[in-house]
Amino acid sequence: RNFKRQMECRSDIERLNAPFLAIYESLIPAEEEKTKQKQLLTSLEKLVNKEWPKAQLFLYGSCANSFGVSRSDVDVCLAIDDTETSKSEILLKLADILQSDNLQNVQALTRARVPIVKLMDPVTGISCDICINNVLAVVNTKLLRDYAQIDARLQQLAFIVKHWAKTRGVNETYRGTLSSYAYVIMCIHFLQRRKPAILPCLQGMETTYAVTVDDIECSYFDRVENLRNFGSQNKESIAQLVWAFFDYWAYRHDYANAVISVRTGSIIRKHEKDWTRRIGNDRHLICIEDPFEISHDLGRVVDKYSIKVLREEFERAANIMQYDPDPCAMLFEPY
Ligand code: CTP
Ligand code: MG
Repeated sequence: RNFKRQMECRSDIERLNAPFLAIYESLIPAEEEKTKQKQLLTSLEKLVNKEWPKAQLFLYGSCANSFGVSRSDVDVCLAIDDTETSKSEILLKLADILQSDNLQNVQALTRARVPIVKLMDPVTGISCDICINNVLAVVNTKLLRDYAQIDARLQQLAFIVKHWAKTRGVNETYRGTLSSYAYVIMCIHFLQRRKPAILPCLQGMETTYAVTVDDIECSYFDRVENLRNFGSQNKESIAQLVWAFFDYWAYRHDYANAVISVRTGSIIRKHEKDWTRRIGNDRHLICIEDPFEISHDLGRVVDKYSIKVLREEFERAANIMQYDPDPCAMLFEPY
């Protein structure tokens, strides 16, 4: 099927820019929503500090990485320096404190893969997940936010891809499809590889920011205000990029051998990482290297059934972008 494909996108692709930008704009959260999230964080911080005066709360995930659409849940990390108490005990204690303060549906999920306390703030209607000491997530959130400041097309593409994945049911890690975080990493990598490049490889540049988290060194160039013109040589429009993104994952990615790596800004071989066979539950059927936890394949949730679902969805999207008279309607058609 690969050979017959044309190398170029449809001739009327530019006509699709306006509708894609309109979808992107409709997904941007209102300023008011951001303000409410900050207020919730402040009030949570007060409660937490009564019990643990030195503890800090950090936002991470989509409410802090520039890739949050409106009405997203808020992800919060409680950074606490308590080696005596187990995570579960801290979570149960936390749930107790929050419960007695008018918050609704407070639930401690101590056995989840990432143990959290869930809650809902009845004043703002915001739902929130609090995890403990997941500092790496706070750092990778900053990396994503820094990339987003370099070229506006990253945020546009990622919003459209995330919206597509949610409406098509392929953003569900518990069912073997990819996390939002993985989709954003795929978008960053894709834009690093355009010719000319739209995004640089921040981890390959001079270090201006460095932290060590759980023995992992996280360092990269974070003076992104100096990179605002980085992608200006590349004139590709959002419609072209959406088309090329799906075309890449449908027909060009080498699923058998390739690992995408934002860390290096390149494609590396599964062989180099010893990701060629199944170990435990890691099947490596679609390989997406985490930028900092480089032994983590963000595609590890994908199994032999869901890889088919995922690839068929990429093909469906690519074909719609190539041939459909009204791609915006079809692309986001609920499954
Ligand atoms: N995360 C991670 N490793 C993963 C998955 C997630 O470190 N394998 C962290 C990242 O910091 C990510 C955050 O958890 O930003 C939240 O992940 P996810 O829910 O996938 O992304 P959101 O950006 O919050 O997307 P959504 O809008 O769908 O909530
Ligand atoms: Mg989230």
